[in-house]
This record gives sequence, structure tokens and C-alpha cells, in this order.
Amino acid sequence: MRAATVVPGRPDSAAVTEIPEPSPADGAVLVEGMLIGICGTDVEIVRQRFGQPPPGEERLVLGHESVGRVLEAPAGSDLAPGDLVVGVVRRPDPEPCSCCARDQWDFCRNGRFTERGIKGRHGYGAGRWRIEEKFAVKIDSTLGDLGVLLEPTSVVAKAWEQIERIGARACFDARRVLITGAGPIGLLAGLLGVQRGFDVHVLDLVTTGPKPKLVAELGATYHHGGVGELGFEPDIVVECTGVGELVLDIAGSCAPGAIICLAGISSGQRRLPVNLDRINAELVMENTVLFGTVNAARRHYEQAASALLRADQGWLSGVISRRVPLRSWPDALSKRPDDVKVVVDLRD
Ligand code: BGC
Repeated sequence: MRAATVVPGRPDSAAVTEIPEPSPADGAVLVEGMLIGICGTDVEIVRQRFGQPPPGEERLVLGHESVGRVLEAPAGSDLAPGDLVVGVVRRPDPEPCSCCARDQWDFCRNGRFTERGIKGRHGYGAGRWRIEEKFAVKIDSTLGDLGVLLEPTSVVAKAWEQIERIGARACFDARRVLITGAGPIGLLAGLLGVQRGFDVHVLDLVTTGPKPKLVAELGATYHHGGVGELGFEPDIVVECTGVGELVLDIAGSCAPGAIICLAGISSGQRRLPVNLDRINAELVMENTVLFGTVNAARRHYEQAASALLRADQGWLSGVISRRVPLRSWPDALSKRPDDVKVVVDLRD
């Protein structure tokens, strides 16, 4: 069986390799892989040794953004052959910590969690994969290939859930939302903001290509340039670029009582002289909350599934800007100017 594999940290090792059929130890549900999505984390795994293969192995099967069709499900299961499923990324740590014991693996407290396609477990980038029923999320069959957007949507569904929970600390009549970064995470965060009735603004650097159009089609406002040039103070910010410098600009540019959610994972090593006392004073004096969020629990995948079903399918299709067949999947790793979400077709 063919799979998209890599030795983490060795870009020239990205290849299509033959691997054995999935082991029943991975779960009782057998799935035919349809698509995987490629994101910044995958690129980091290939280039910078962020990922980790399963113990004792050299290569990692990539793919944490998945969609596939059930081939076999155990008797009495809620799943049946033909159902479309998406695999949850994280598995609880073996201890388990207090959060993993409550199925809140996205808040794992000891860092010993594993993640399919990222940390200590093979991913979903293969012709067939197995999964435990608890970690397989069934999606409406009308979504089809668009189900590959479920995992990134689960990450922003969690972000929005956390924002709403923090907002409940006091009266909070938030109206204007700023999303920084018009990549897939930023666009999906924008979609969920629009679905909640907010006035959504998306900031990015580009002036051409599909991103400004996708933002406009969402009913949101596109901006390019700096946070200081926006002309308004956002009540909520979802930072999706991971650019540390931007976080500083945002911290000084929000409305009183703002909630700033950091959802982009930084990979750079930039250093800047920063007046932390000024930032501290700004955050304290305005009751600002700055928080980080990563990964998603099962309920966030379910929230994401209903958000995707409510969305315009034509718009969602536009987010998937390039499809690469499995046989040449390493092409998906090099960024092209008009890329938004690049997916690998495991059937080709
Ligand atoms: C994935 C998360 C994961 C994180 C860190 C992201 O790209 O979407 O599920 O927890 O990387 O490994």
C-alpha cells in the first residue's frame, strides 16, 4: 500500500513509499483514505524535524488533516461501510493526566500525548488506515472531499469556543473581529465569525490572488498592511500567522476588554527590543485577555462538522486551491503564490 512518508527534518526524504496494511492495533475501523490536507505543521515536520515517527521507526506517514470512507466497522458500531469519517489528531497521554482522563486531550498537561501524522504515530496519508471508533468523526456525506477541511475547522471551533467562554466573564458586546492571516486557518476562523454574526475583518499581506476574493465572498472585509492602519479597534482578534511581532502590534491596538486569541504556531527565531512594561500596562489597564489555543477535542470536531454543513459549499471548494496526486505528493510542500489549502489525493 502506498503512503506519503518522510524522515522528519530531511526534506529530500519526502517520498511515496510502500508500507504494510494498517495494523488492527490502530483501531477496529478500516478506512479508505481519500484526501489529506497539507499545512504549515507538515512543512515544518519535513524541514525542521518538528515531527516524531513512532518509536523504533525512521519514517513517519504524514497527514493529520484527513477524510476517508469506511470500509469495515465492527458490529454494533455507529459507523457503517460507506460512511465518511475524519480522524481526530491527538491521542491522550498514557498516564493519563487529569485533562486526558476527561477526554480533554487538547489540554494535555504533561506533554506525553501523541498525534497522528505529527508526534509518535503514523498519520492518515495512506491508501488505507485504521482508527478507533472514538476517534473517528462521521461527517455528512454531502460534504464529500470538503471533509478534509474538518480538522483545521476543529482548531478554530475550539478557538471560538474559548473566546466565548472568556467573553462570559463580564458584559461583552463584541462586534468587530480581526483575523490576522488569510490562510486556511484565518479564512475558516472568519467563516465561524461570520456565522456568529460578527463584523469580520481579515488582514493579510497579499493584494492579489484568491485570498481577498474569498474574504469578500464570506461577507467580511479584507485589509492589507499593518494593524495600525485598520482604522478601528477590534473587540476580538484571532491571530493565525504565528508572527510574533504582529502579536505585539495587536496587543496595543485593541478595544478595552478585548480578547486576543493566538492560534498561529510561530516557527521563526526573530528577536526584537520590546517595551514589555508598556504592553503589561496596556493589557492590565484594559482588562485584555491574551491566550493561546492548540488542537481540538472531539466536541470541537463535531462543532466544526455543523459549521461546514452550514457554509456555502462553493466557497469551501474555493479554499481548496490545489490538488496533488499521492504519486507526486512532495509537490504539495512547495508553496505557490495562489495556494490557500493544498490537498493530496490518496486515490491518485
Ligand atoms: C494541528 C494540531 C496539532 C498542532 C501541533 C496543528 O497543525 O492542527 O492538531 O495539535 O499542529 O502539533
